[in-house]
Amino acid sequence: MQLERVVLIGCGTSLHAAQVGRHYIERLAGIPAEAESASEFRYRDPIIGPRTLVVSIGQSGETADTVAAMHLAREKGATLITICNAEESQAARVADGALYMHAGLEVGVASTKTFVASLTILQLLSVYLGQLRGKLDAETTRRLVDQMARGPGLIGEVLAEANLYSSLARRIGHYDNFLFLGRGANAAIASEGALKLKEISYIHAEGYPAGEMKHGPIALIDPEMCTVALAPRDDLRDKTLSNIKEVKARGGLVVAVLTKGDDEAASEVDFPLFIPQAPDLLMPLVTTVPLQLLSYYIALLRGCDVDQPRNLAKSVTVE
Ligand code: AGP
Repeated sequence: MQLERVVLIGCGTSLHAAQVGRHYIERLAGIPAEAESASEFRYRDPIIGPRTLVVSIGQSGETADTVAAMHLAREKGATLITICNAEESQAARVADGALYMHAGLEVGVASTKTFVASLTILQLLSVYLGQLRGKLDAETTRRLVDQMARGPGLIGEVLAEANLYSSLARRIGHYDNFLFLGRGANAAIASEGALKLKEISYIHAEGYPAGEMKHGPIALIDPEMCTVALAPRDDLRDKTLSNIKEVKARGGLVVAVLTKGDDEAASEVDFPLFIPQAPDLLMPLVTTVPLQLLSYYIALLRGCDVDQPRNLAKSVTVE
């Protein structure tokens, strides 16, 4: 069957995974793709049919909005798969097929390892579709799979520097407002970074595509605002660096996730956080972990319960 479109749906952190997945599907499989919140999708009248592949993403596979959106996709005849961590979940039962994360039990309410696992499965799915459709030749596929195998090592390099995040948390943990900026797939990672900070530290944080900064959020920049920018060395790094300069020019504090050795960018920011050079495919994995570490240490500093944040349930099974 010739797929015409891929629609990725999820809620919260899983929506952010869907947003990254969209980039992977378009780039690697060459299929038009979009990502949408399951809670919006379920109340629209989406134009989908047998040539649409709907991919639901969820740690639990029990999120009410996601499962309802899957039922809608099913009614409309879409091909339906789910990426989830929990086997025997509702999502797995409704879908035509399930791609399990096999990430093990995630105890903390805030999704972390399952976010990284979702991104990995989305990479595999995109490469598989790319191969199936003849977009990726054998050589390219092999190269991409080799790159994926480097993921754990690169994440390990970031984790080995956890003490840096702990000391940075002491410097910035008193800020009450954070703006997370990124471009491309890193725009979704910025949203995820803001969500993690909100969830476990109870700090107001917004995630924004950096290119949108001028269209509103720039009005918020002052010395009380901490901006966390994702500007690793990639095609969009220079653009994000311009945003960083705009924030600095307005007296804002800037923490930036940068590629090791990028001294030019480091000289523009207050606190550089260096990550290893990584292939484009892996970049969203590698930029995620610094933001998770930062939220974790800020939450500890503020005396928050990182595993059981207030008002949140691990799985939102009612609307
Ligand atoms: C993630 O840290 C949150 N707890 C929340 O946004 C979560 O991702 C969302 O409720 C969706 O859950 P799911 O992945 O189990 O569907």
